[in-house]
Amino acid sequence: MLTYSFPNDSHLTMYEYLYQCIKEDIIHLKLTPHEKLPSKRAFAKNQNVSLITIENAYNQLLIEGYIYSIEKKGYFVSEIQYPNIPTKKAVKLPQEIKKAYLIDLKTNSVSPKHFPFSTWSKLTRQVLSSQDSELLTRPPQQGCLALRETICKHLYAFSGMNVLPQQIIIGAGTEYLYNLVIQLLGRQLIYALENPGHHSISKVYQLNDISYQYIPLDKDGLNIKELKKSQAHVVHISPAHHYPTGITMPIKRRLEILKWANDHQNYIIEDDYDSEFRLRGKPISTLYQIDQNERVIYMNTFSKTLAPSFRISYMVLPPHLVQRFQEKLHFYACSVSSFEQIILAEFMQQGYFEKHINRMRNSYKLIRDDFLSQLHASPIAHQIRITEENAGLHFLLHYTSPFHDNEIVQQAAAIGLHISTLSQFYDIPYDSHTIVVNYSGLAFHQIPVAIELLNRLFT
Ligand SMILES: Cc1ncc(COP(=O)(O)O)c(C=O)c1O
Repeated sequence: MLTYSFPNDSHLTMYEYLYQCIKEDIIHLKLTPHEKLPSKRAFAKNQNVSLITIENAYNQLLIEGYIYSIEKKGYFVSEIQYPNIPTKKAVKLPQEIKKAYLIDLKTNSVSPKHFPFSTWSKLTRQVLSSQDSELLTRPPQQGCLALRETICKHLYAFSGMNVLPQQIIIGAGTEYLYNLVIQLLGRQLIYALENPGHHSISKVYQLNDISYQYIPLDKDGLNIKELKKSQAHVVHISPAHHYPTGITMPIKRRLEILKWANDHQNYIIEDDYDSEFRLRGKPISTLYQIDQNERVIYMNTFSKTLAPSFRISYMVLPPHLVQRFQEKLHFYACSVSSFEQIILAEFMQQGYFEKHINRMRNSYKLIRDDFLSQLHASPIAHQIRITEENAGLHFLLHYTSPFHDNEIVQQAAAIGLHISTLSQFYDIPYDSHTIVVNYSGLAFHQIPVAIELLNRLFT
């Protein structure tokens, strides 16, 4: 008679446990094909369990085809040809390493002191208590209408862009949207990106087996001569505010790039990441606005304006691509939850978003000013030079040092300082001797600690 002892620490119910044991014995041929299983009653008695427990276990095995039954005769093991199943080796999975740093000047983050948690929880309660059925239905594939409408209003108010909700696609992050763009425009095209620039995009291209080329920058942004020499059909640029150099592309260069796109029926992906936080001057017209021929796909994200944890980004498609999107990619579900979209729409509609951006712009300005004045008063002041301090939530710190960039990054990590160097934004490694200092995640009390660590790094 089959006998299985039930371990005390099992997380399974008795019937699940018996089902598992019998299944394993069948797979490993301890129970042979057509062998008769004990009757339910006898087996229940032997295991000291109820009849229903055995019935449930046998029924599950029957449904999955491991056993069969013959009326009035009982249950038998099915004959199944198993491939040679190698015995399972314990797989070693990589450890998730989360290194704790004293100060993080690398990650684009937001200090918890600056996030409007109380407003967000008030709106969350309001939205949830509405018990609106929209919360529980699959969001429209391009994103919830309320959010797309408020994004349109924001784009109009912030940068004079006139777009319709039908043109907006909401997605969980810029990388996700890039995958959609590739599927929309086609894998046969050649894509180009800025060097230096946001290198996750090149990873997306690589993993999609896309041909892509790097185009260098000059003082006005993407080098137009190099773009014309390339074979690219699609180019990714951040004309308002290039990250991390902070270059703003002047109108002459913008028109040249638009002409390039018009002349060859090419496309421009305008990544407006970071544009809301330029600390000096007025917001700059987007390329999308001056494009007359539907050549520009506009992208932006809430990762900087709210927090990178949100994973809410969006793109604005020119009208002819909306139609193509709906024909080709209509089956994709929207990758952002309706809950988050509707709360964000409320946050924007009720004017909190604009207030938040204005408040953050002021706070970031104060943090930057404090950081720079403490840096200039510190012992390493004569060894460093600061540029792009109006570039948004980061500045460039140029230093003199005999060490390679990667050595400096390691030395910084060893004292608890997380940094990235400008060279990390280039395709080929070189020594930039420049740190890209992201200060958005710092609270005021952390500035002296950051200065102290930078001093230790360079002395
Ligand atoms: C130029 C640029 N675009 C987009 C992003 C990220 O956007 P998201 O968080 O929406 O994926 C980054 C992040 O560093 C970036 O540098």
